[in-house]
Amino acid sequence: MLADPLTNKGTAFTAAERDALGLHGLLPPHVGTLDSQIARRRRVLDGMADDFHRYAFLRELQDSNEVLFHALVQADLPRLLPLVYTPTVGEGCERFSEIWRRPRGLFLSYPNRTRIADILADPALDRVKVIVVSDGERILGLGDQGAGGMGIPIGKLALYTACAGIHPAEVLPILLDVGTDNAARRDDPLYVGWRNPRIRGAEYDAFVEDFVAAVHARFPGVLLQWEDFAGKNAYDLLERYRGRLLSFNDDIQGTAATATGTLLAAIRRTGQPLTDQRIVLFGAGAAGSGIAEMLVRALIAAGLDEAAARQRIWAVDRDGLVLSDIPRLPPQQAALARDPTELAGWTMAPGRIGLLETVVNVRPTVLIGASGQMGAFGEPVIRAMAAGCERPVIFPLSNPISRAEAHPADLLAWTGGRALVGTGSPFGVAGVTQVNNVYIFPGVGLGALAAGATAVTDGMFMAAAETLGSLGDAGDGSLLPPITALRAVALRIAVAVAAQAVRDGVATMPADALAAERIAAQMWLPVYD
Ligand code: NAI
Repeated sequence: MLADPLTNKGTAFTAAERDALGLHGLLPPHVGTLDSQIARRRRVLDGMADDFHRYAFLRELQDSNEVLFHALVQADLPRLLPLVYTPTVGEGCERFSEIWRRPRGLFLSYPNRTRIADILADPALDRVKVIVVSDGERILGLGDQGAGGMGIPIGKLALYTACAGIHPAEVLPILLDVGTDNAARRDDPLYVGWRNPRIRGAEYDAFVEDFVAAVHARFPGVLLQWEDFAGKNAYDLLERYRGRLLSFNDDIQGTAATATGTLLAAIRRTGQPLTDQRIVLFGAGAAGSGIAEMLVRALIAAGLDEAAARQRIWAVDRDGLVLSDIPRLPPQQAALARDPTELAGWTMAPGRIGLLETVVNVRPTVLIGASGQMGAFGEPVIRAMAAGCERPVIFPLSNPISRAEAHPADLLAWTGGRALVGTGSPFGVAGVTQVNNVYIFPGVGLGALAAGATAVTDGMFMAAAETLGSLGDAGDGSLLPPITALRAVALRIAVAVAAQAVRDGVATMPADALAAERIAAQMWLPVYD
């Protein structure tokens, strides 16, 4: 009981429980309460020197007492979320091997590829409903972290519990350890992962196929979230498996819904309809092109045909403005490519068309960054944008803070305070919105599970985005509800997502099971039984 984080209550075991379970002597005589335990952990957190050590402390707490960990998180979400998840989780992944203590979740490594079904057969996993899986190749904007990428599934699932009330026994973080191409990690004597260059191509595909087949057989209705896979794999796995497994990719679809929902909230503020926006997207990888495709759908829903919708978006990537005559464009960028003949009236120097040239000529009303390029939204770019529009909407979404396209305080300064700013990570700047997927994925997951959905449709993500955009703000000038309201946000989104699952014909639960009160009743709260 004391050693299992799901049953441990520490000093809060009552006298009767200590009698019944034979715990006398193993615990100090004082019988505590959850509140006193929270106060004790808060004092430790206050006394620590930096956030990385707070992160490590919280990971150990989670591995020793789940109720206490989640009660602590729940009691102060604005302070704890950045410690449990982004931005601190970035360093948590980079230094994962250094702070390795106890197993959590599953490491499915390539050398164990014939044992996947046996590993999943563990009866301790009987209750699993939600899996978050990564192969650690594109961790936030920090690149390949190999086995250290496990920090991401662990963190995301902590948020599933915190925001959507999924019971800790029902979540399973998984790291597919297919090696790492990060030489610094491989050469680190403390590295806990498989010391091998990444497996790629047919071997990789076969390994993931075996994994999906084993998951499907072991956990038929499970919701699986693909997380922080590198660009092409992210797309391929989503497309290959979304019809076979209740699954989605949070980097592509969750980010898209979060950004779209926040943009819908922004244009409510500016009063300028979506169909009038000129949108420049910087970084058209997994997150960026996912955002673009969802905005296309939102523009179509707002009345444009597809061609006209695509005309509202300009994508800029590594080679500059994405044009249809650039050779070997990845398919998701080809879908966004502009016709070079459109550039006839543009003022620019010959050669690559960078972000500044694009902004000067397009005069965007919306600028979204998903490039992982720190400082890419420099002063000339932002001043050029502000010169062409009254209330520029600027979302530097890249995480962690070290990869953000701009500091929000600079964006406000360069636009004379006129910009509506949303960032991926929290910067603590008043009036700036945190455009984080945590606003979307817990509600999408909860709604999909409540509906017994057989697939997560694009329509369900659009329902989530529209709901997010309609929830109102924190009353501090930002665009979304406060972090303290995340549980209520998840519930509202879950209800909308479940209703959309019914409309899309993928729900298996009767409609009366999908009312808000019925879904709310399924949400676990961290209290001792
Ligand atoms: P990705 O690697 O698929 O995409 C990055 C894109 O940026 C690629 O297309 C790349 O070619 C492009 N790029 C790189 N250098 C560039 C440059 N100098 N100029 C223009 N484009 C350039 O990665 P992904 O998954 O799209 O993530 C990108 C960033 O977005 C990361 O920092 C990630 O943390 C962040 N993100 C933020 C989320 C949020 O909730 N705020 C959610 C998901 C991702």
